[in-house]
Amino acid sequence: MNPVTNPYAPGAGSPPPELSGRSAVRKDVAVCIDRLRLGRSAKSVVMVGLRGVGKTVLLDQMRKDAEERGIHTIRIEAPEERSLPALLAPQLRLALLRLSKIEAAQDAAIRGLRALAGFASKLKIKYNDIEVGLDFGIEPGLADNGDLEADLTALLEQAGAAAQRAGTVLVLFIDELQYVHESQLAALISALHRSSQEQLPVTVVGAGLPQLIGQMGKAKSYAERLFDFPDIGPLDKNDARDAIVKPAEHEGVEVLDEAIDAIMEKTKGYPYFLQEWGKHAWNVAPQSPITQRDVENASDQAIAALDESFFRVRFDRLTPAEKRYLRGMADLGPGTHRSSDISDQLRRTVQSLGPIRANLIRKGMIWSPTHGDTAFTVPLFDEFMKRIMPGDEWKTARE
Ligand SMILES: Nc1ncnc2c1ncn2[C@@H]1O[C@H](COP(=O)(O)OP(=O)(O)O)[C@@H](O)[C@H]1O
Ligand SMILES: [Mg+2]
Repeated sequence: MNPVTNPYAPGAGSPPPELSGRSAVRKDVAVCIDRLRLGRSAKSVVMVGLRGVGKTVLLDQMRKDAEERGIHTIRIEAPEERSLPALLAPQLRLALLRLSKIEAAQDAAIRGLRALAGFASKLKIKYNDIEVGLDFGIEPGLADNGDLEADLTALLEQAGAAAQRAGTVLVLFIDELQYVHESQLAALISALHRSSQEQLPVTVVGAGLPQLIGQMGKAKSYAERLFDFPDIGPLDKNDARDAIVKPAEHEGVEVLDEAIDAIMEKTKGYPYFLQEWGKHAWNVAPQSPITQRDVENASDQAIAALDESFFRVRFDRLTPAEKRYLRGMADLGPGTHRSSDISDQLRRTVQSLGPIRANLIRKGMIWSPTHGDTAFTVPLFDEFMKRIMPGDEWKTARE
């Protein structure tokens, strides 16, 4: 069928034509934000899940939902090698400038901008990637300690006070939170803790890989009490059907149940894969309705597209030793594996593989559901590893 009207949208962060199966978590976040606006308590929310389940698009949708209700938001994404204060400072500045336009909040927002000046000038020494325009001078003693935890606390307190005067909430949407270093994560948690004790309307809605729950608990043991960690997973059959059928219907195209069954079997309901199969099934189908046969015929293309993008970008960032580790893991099949089974597979000791495993966790390729266990953070990555490193050569390769 006509690729021009193809509604499906595979791609990291690409908004899907139908955001299926996420209304409960969207509602929970909206309730949390509205409670804060009323001065009630609410936990901050950090969504966790594997790559490609739709955390980023959900975060963006929640942000839109909030902005529509008059909530002030900022949005950042933590890349691997930037400091959290460097990411926060310019965005907080914009939020404070916006709040300063609201008369009731003006004084508090200006004081917030002074806090930001103190924050940036002192922390620049430690985090030299901070670059932010400064609109007001510092106020001695306000967020200018030079200690991230204390200064971020003071800064968020001031921003929260401004939001409160404006009758709104300041929500920090933060993606890829697992890349934030432990000490900076600790500072963020601590600053939010203070804001919540003072019933200030400031909160975080975050997203990251599953290891984030452990990282946050390690950074601050009370993180568990302060945050909810909704699990974002694959879609069940009904939601997956909606994700495929509704966009097609919108274009006047029917999708047979047998086609949905086939898509479900190939994708296991993972949103990224649903978009990819939807897209290619549409393109190969001669006409409506889309059938099981179309889905089967589209599979090679869908897999090739995934291999070239979703899987490939991650694979290309790995060293040969890391690739070999993942290949050994893939041989054990999908799911969670004991570190000792993986090392046996590679004929190495668990200890000697420790640094490789640690790097793979840091790069966000694998995670540890429980101590000594290892699992992929990318669904169906085991099958990809077998495709890209076929045969047995990896078993004897020396790095
Ligand atoms: N609820 C959903 N229903 C249908 N498609 C979705 C849904 N959530 C995400 N997608 C699609 O999945 C892909 C990956 O989404 P993304 O937000 O980048 O995932 P993540 O951030 O978890 O890696 C995108 O192509 C997006 O359109
Ligand atoms: Mg994402």
